[in-house]
Amino acid sequence: MFKDGEHLIRLAAVFALGLAAFVILRAAVVPRSFGQYGHYRGAAIAEIASRPIALAGHVTCESCHSDIADQKKLGKHVVVACEACHGALAAHAEDPTSVQPKKLDTAVVCARCHEANSAKPKWFPQVATADHSGGIACDTCHQPHRPKIETGKSETAKTEAEGKK
Ligand code: HEC
Ligand code: HEC
Ligand code: HEC
Ligand code: HEC
Repeated sequence: MFKDGEHLIRLAAVFALGLAAFVILRAAVVPRSFGQYGHYRGAAIAEIASRPIALAGHVTCESCHSDIADQKKLGKHVVVACEACHGALAAHAEDPTSVQPKKLDTAVVCARCHEANSAKPKWFPQVATADHSGGIACDTCHQPHRPKIETGKSETAKTEAEGKK
């Protein structure tokens, strides 16, 4: 039909070989459960579900520490979840007496969100921590769960007043 058609047959053979190699390689490489539910590895779900749970969630914390939850509701940290500061504490929530949370270093924890940075939105409260605190722990002046310092009364004075009630 074509002059020197043999060339075309060779070319077609090379393509067929390439296709066969692709199909074989794909079958060998793609995990079995791929596509079971969608465009991902189906077995991944069971693998993730079998990992130990690290976070308890703020609702769990609040069920035991309702005093802290009540404090937190009075200030802007109401939107910050317990474990955003205290770290993952599912082990403590399971067994509070034998697993005690580590004391937090406020210089690290508070700065993580409040260190001044021009990339942060202007409305977000931020301070140059080194200048602002002069090296004093943030919770010397701020009550971490209700951080606003109300002028006139110090937190200690207020806590004492509440204690007397
Ligand atoms: C089942 C009840 C329970 C749950 C749930 C629970 N805790 Fe506790 N937590 C306790 C008890 C009891 C203590 C020990 C109190 C003590 O020794 O005065 C404690 C102690 C703590 C302390 C240390 C207090 C200190 O004086 O140093 C922190 C911080 C804390 N919990 C945070 C959390 C957070 C965050 C969560 C949620 C992830 C949580 N807890 C969930 C019962 C619970
Ligand atoms: C903005 C960060 C932050 C958040 C959010 C936060 N905490 Fe704290 N919390 C601290 C710091 C800082 C301390 C004091 C240092 C320490 O004890 O590690 C503290 C202390 C505590 C203590 C022991 C001393 C005390 O004041 O009674 C408990 C219990 C506690 N937190 C529980 C909670 C629980 C429960 C939640 C969620 C409802 C929560 N915290 C949310 C930062 C935070
Ligand atoms: C996970 C992020 C996060 C961490 C950690 C954090 N904060 Fe905050 N803080 C916030 C958010 C969110 C607000 C509320 C901002 C707003 O709505 O204006 C806030 C508000 C504040 C305010 C302003 C309160 C007011 O009523 O105007 C102070 C002061 C403050 N935080 C101090 C602290 C201190 C001290 C620590 C460490 C114990 C701390 N924050 C840790 C997120 C954080
Ligand atoms: C010596 C006391 C003191 C110490 C220590 C301290 N602060 Fe403050 N901070 C204040 C006072 C006073 C204000 C102004 C009143 C207010 O907004 O609560 C303030 C305000 C803030 C504000 C709000 C700023 C704004 O624009 O609204 C943030 C955020 C803050 N501090 C974070 C921190 C952090 C983080 C630390 C620890 C690195 C810290 N503070 C340590 C006294 C202190």
